[in-house]
Amino acid sequence: MCKTIGEMENSVMCGDCLQLLADIPDDSIDMIITSPPYADQIKDYGEKVRKIKPEHYVEWFLPRAKELYRVLSSNGSFILNISDKLDGKFQSLYVFKLVIALCDDIGFHLVRDYIWYNPATPPNVFSRGTMGRTKKSHEYCFWFSKSDQWTFNMDPIRKPYSKDMQKFLNGKGKGNREDNTRPSRHNFDLSHAWTNHGGSDPGSVITVGNNASNDYFQKLCREIGIRHPARFPQQLIEFFVLSGSNEKDLILDPFSGSGTTGVVAQKHNRKWICMDINPDYCELSKRWIADAASSLERKGIGCDD
Ligand SMILES: C[S@@+](CC[C@H](N)C(=O)[O-])C[C@H]1O[C@@H](n2cnc3c(N)ncnc32)[C@H](O)[C@@H]1O
Repeated sequence: MCKTIGEMENSVMCGDCLQLLADIPDDSIDMIITSPPYADQIKDYGEKVRKIKPEHYVEWFLPRAKELYRVLSSNGSFILNISDKLDGKFQSLYVFKLVIALCDDIGFHLVRDYIWYNPATPPNVFSRGTMGRTKKSHEYCFWFSKSDQWTFNMDPIRKPYSKDMQKFLNGKGKGNREDNTRPSRHNFDLSHAWTNHGGSDPGSVITVGNNASNDYFQKLCREIGIRHPARFPQQLIEFFVLSGSNEKDLILDPFSGSGTTGVVAQKHNRKWICMDINPDYCELSKRWIADAASSLERKGIGCDD
């Protein structure tokens, strides 16, 4: 007998997400956050995951995207973390083709193209300067909506104000718009105190180093003998969970790997469903999410904090 959505909440489901998604009711998910295997990935996710060539990527992803669109609630958001690499001499275009297909063929709307900047990207073959380009130190996080309404909370992601902004908030700025016109032609009236919103808009570049090397998760991997090669950092997911969902919302990750989305969702009082095709990763993520839950209960914070 099919499970109800309530029975699927807070569980890790093992299998190809294309089949697993078929059991999820229409419009039942408040937010989808995921990072699928990238085209031509060098990372090995086990025998069930075959390499997808850039030219076949859109065709592979679209049936899954159709299911994601169906299960997402009308005011829900879909966050897609993805990257590309060189395909021959030039950078592959499959990511951009996918974004266009997600909008034109599936019906998603692009809300914002966020950049995840990883300042800890190590020097690599490009860094010798002989390949006509620098290393790539960012990935994309595309935020899509299903309709023209979606949940968005700015307050939890605001950044501390800069020193200059503090001055303007205290009414200590000088001059009117004409006196404060930038080369970009933006102009600011500093002759009165600016409204304090509790922090500034963080903008569209999310800076998070992906360099945790001895945290709780890695100790767990050593303990149970399973590793995952592509965990995304919790802070990256936190940005989207906090801004794009509310407490008690249901968040789905159809390519959940180590279970980061589940850990972060649970930490912020959201419900979650994780899916992965590799049974080892399902076991690893169940254990990590459970350990994070007990740690939350004990200390009021999650593992990895
Ligand atoms: C980039 S990793 C996700 C990493 C994850 N964000 C994390 O923090 O650990 C992609 C995952 O997709 C899984 N995968 C690949 N094909 C799949 C499919 N058809 N259905 C479900 N999972 C799949 C792989 O096993 C891998 O764990």
